[in-house]
Amino acid sequence: MNVLDIRACKARGEKIVMLTCYDYTSARIVQDSDVDVILVGDSAAMVMHGYGTTIPADIEMMCRHIESVSRGTENKFIVGDMPFLSFRQSLTDNMRAVASVMKAGAHAVKLEGIEGNTETIAHIVKSGVPVMGHLGLTPQSVNQLGGYRVQGRGDDAAKKLREDAIACEQAGCFAVVLECVPDELAAEITALLTIPTIGIGAGPRTDGQVLVMQDLLGLSSDFKPKFVRKYLDGRQLWQDAFNAYANDVKNGSFPADDESYGQ
Ligand code: KIV
Repeated sequence: MNVLDIRACKARGEKIVMLTCYDYTSARIVQDSDVDVILVGDSAAMVMHGYGTTIPADIEMMCRHIESVSRGTENKFIVGDMPFLSFRQSLTDNMRAVASVMKAGAHAVKLEGIEGNTETIAHIVKSGVPVMGHLGLTPQSVNQLGGYRVQGRGDDAAKKLREDAIACEQAGCFAVVLECVPDELAAEITALLTIPTIGIGAGPRTDGQVLVMQDLLGLSSDFKPKFVRKYLDGRQLWQDAFNAYANDVKNGSFPADDESYGQ
């Protein structure tokens, strides 16, 4: 998979499957799956490090995760998230941050928002680095947005989102994530753009979907956003395995003879 394949998926009407991944062991499993694109998202700050928002993610954190995922994959397309404010510095510093993410093993970067980022995105793209846009609910702006809420509701907000999506395409983005956007608006934007849209909480009519791995596996906390589908009750399965292990240790059945070294 590369940027051309991703764009070709839209032309063929073939859905793009993106999944977040942050570590080597999970990456080995994703490598052998039908997932097309791996997003090393700044959601790592929340699901891997336990922060309440993505704001504490920084370039060092992102690069460690991207390197781990890169070591665990061979031919998967890896998108690395540009963390909070890392692309709102001088052009030199922005490009240094992009270089770090790419050298860590990403094949593209993702940037939240378009306002004030058009020139940066165009410069990154002209420098040979593919950029994925991210519109709608942009979690790095949670304080500005007043919480995690659906974006683009109402005529003015919908018009702005349409214009922002076109601006992403014009700036040179090869794809754009639409997060927490009404189904109808996401479908409209998808039809308007020549680049693929990848939805999360944006209904079924985007060109692709993305989910956070821990949500899909049922490993996240009890709060489940409406748009998440749990494909596994991971928390219960893990708990059962931990308890079975604890039980075997306590009753002396682990380790058995064939799990022990002879003389
Ligand atoms: O960081 C992330 O996981 C993301 C997805 C939710 C799109 O940006």
